[in-house]
Amino acid sequence: MKFVFIVLSLAAIMGEDTAAQKLRLENWMSDLPAPLKELPLIFLAIPGSHDSMTYGITRSSTVAPDAEPILNRLYPLFRGTILRWTITQASDTWHQLLIGIRYFDLRLATKVDDDKFHFTHGLYGDEISTALGQVKEFVDTHPGEVVILDCQHFYGFTREDHMRLRRYLLDLYGPRLVPRQIDLHAITLNSLNRLKMQVIIVYRNETVNTTGEFWQPQMMPSPWPQQDTITGLVSFLENIRRHPSTGFVHQAVLTPTPIFIVLRWISSLRERCAVPVIKEVLPKLADFTPGPPAPAHKPGVRAPVNVVIADFVDMDNAIFPRTIIDLNMKLLRHTDIVHHNNG
Ligand SMILES: *[C@@H]1O[C@H](CO)[C@@H](O)[C@H](O)[C@H]1NC(C)=O
Ligand SMILES: *[C@@H]1O[C@H](CO)[C@@H](O)[C@H](O)[C@H]1NC(C)=O
Repeated sequence: MKFVFIVLSLAAIMGEDTAAQKLRLENWMSDLPAPLKELPLIFLAIPGSHDSMTYGITRSSTVAPDAEPILNRLYPLFRGTILRWTITQASDTWHQLLIGIRYFDLRLATKVDDDKFHFTHGLYGDEISTALGQVKEFVDTHPGEVVILDCQHFYGFTREDHMRLRRYLLDLYGPRLVPRQIDLHAITLNSLNRLKMQVIIVYRNETVNTTGEFWQPQMMPSPWPQQDTITGLVSFLENIRRHPSTGFVHQAVLTPTPIFIVLRWISSLRERCAVPVIKEVLPKLADFTPGPPAPAHKPGVRAPVNVVIADFVDMDNAIFPRTIIDLNMKLLRHTDIVHHNNG
């Protein structure tokens, strides 16, 4: 297969701002200008949520297997504080989908004496079927939209649990699943629309790696910045290296350390991590572009974005998904790469 990159002067035909204004968050993929739907999905900017399902954690949640052992003793004493530093999203799955989120970061755990799978983040969140069912209902009612479900971490899983979850996901999404391909460049919004495929599952455990319906971790690396300062996070994001033939997840999130939390005991992850990211990191992300990565890493040249995730994605009238989605309009402006399959 050969790729030809053509420069379009589309911006002259359709002003960038007009194109951006026409996007409705709920249907932003179907509303994208036509040339962008011919681009590989891994060249588009896609907003996602970090620890997407923590909205389901409540005061009655119990301690989960991914928690530090000390949480068992601290939780009864400091329930409110721990909840404030554990919850990373306020909007439920349906609302996240409506505001344009198309990538979900899933952490899953089993529960003793319960055969259902649950979302987790130190504390148990909801059982998975409601949220995953909403994704199904959303793609059924929004035929132009594509959703990525990243099964990122598993806790308390045996091999049999992986097999059971695999079966559940295959039964739920069936023909809507986008099978993995050697060449991800062949996957565009248009190609998926034609095949009526709308759900990508990334499964980060080798137990099910022969399942062709799931993407393997190396097809969408998602390195954890592990930073508790804005400068550290920005530097991490600026220096990312990305392989040209895979997807990628830029994690625009601050991670509080225990001492960070102790010093800000009465505050919350939202105020101390999510708000600073929106106020100080998002404006910097607005300078990033999607598109194809350079074949070799050039110092000083930022890797292009694909999926970008944040905490509290609904904040400030969904400014995070709006900003990330708008980055796609830069693809119309200069480089304006349309990819043609020359056979
Ligand atoms: C995948 O799951 C198996 C079974 O639970 C586990 O033993 C293994 O460590 C997991 N692999 C990774 C990379 O976490
Ligand atoms: C699946 O994982 C196993 C164990 O890690 C490995 O030996 C095998 O090559 C993998 N298969 C594929 C298709 O990636």
